[in-house]
Amino acid sequence: MNTADTNAPRPDHTGADAGTAAVAEILELDAEVLRTYLSELTTWLGDLSDREPGRIVDLGSGTGTGAIALAQRFPRAEVSAVDRSPQMLHRLTVRVSALSLADRVRGIQADLDEGRPALGTVDLVWAAASLHHMGDPGRVLSHVFDALRPGGLLAVTEMDFFPRFLPEDIGMGRPGLEARLHAALNEGPAADWTDHLVRAGFALEAARPFVIDLPAPLPAATARYAQVCLRKLRSHLDGQLPAEDLAALDAVTDDEGPHGVLRRDDLTVRTTWTTWVGRRP
Ligand SMILES: C[S@@+](CC[C@H](N)C(=O)[O-])C[C@H]1O[C@@H](n2cnc3c(N)ncnc32)[C@H](O)[C@@H]1O
Repeated sequence: MNTADTNAPRPDHTGADAGTAAVAEILELDAEVLRTYLSELTTWLGDLSDREPGRIVDLGSGTGTGAIALAQRFPRAEVSAVDRSPQMLHRLTVRVSALSLADRVRGIQADLDEGRPALGTVDLVWAAASLHHMGDPGRVLSHVFDALRPGGLLAVTEMDFFPRFLPEDIGMGRPGLEARLHAALNEGPAADWTDHLVRAGFALEAARPFVIDLPAPLPAATARYAQVCLRKLRSHLDGQLPAEDLAALDAVTDDEGPHGVLRRDDLTVRTTWTTWVGRRP
């Protein structure tokens, strides 16, 4: 089944109901925690490109995780980062300035559900964890198709399932807390974007899963990443978990408590992301 067609509500790791500042923090931690994966992904896109991309668009750029990774991978490229949220674009501007990339990465505020922002002719379009937020992804993809030069690439990346962080024995007397959280989350199969790309006119170049399996011990940012992701999970699952699991989750996400993830050195990060690459014939 192509679950991209179902429009079933499906939480991503940023949490559908989360405030913008909280989402922005997770996106920036993504960039730090998943640095190696992002580097592998952008290198692979370079290998698939018929020439080095000069004009790149990041759709639903958030705070710029993809736009920055692409600007760093392709040092001559100009990157347009499109997002509807002024707060996200503000954070993007601060980040690109700090990295001395302001001359090559610019934010464009536009709601892709509302119109077709002028993108010019582009070599590479990137959409990470963003297309599933859009009301009519097919319409957005057809706009992307028109903007790409023949031979240009579209890369759609989505997280397959919410990341796992905790060792099995965590659960305050009932081991297996994280497994129960994921069972309650009932994520279902991840969407397959192949049909969407083909319907928009793209030739599917590849669909590649990237397995992320970061072993302990991990840098401090990972503990914070685990904490904010687990808090998102808690807000999503409130009312759907037994009281003792909610209490255990509160203990592991507590800032100060002895059981909090900020004090652990045995956290891991386990998830997969999949990237679909389409080429405009
Ligand atoms: C989960 S975040 C992903 C951000 C970024 N691509 C990343 O990987 O860090 C989704 C982003 O898509 C943006 N977005 C959602 N719907 C949009 C729309 N219709 N038009 C423009 N941006 C949109 C949101 O504002 C948010 O910044």
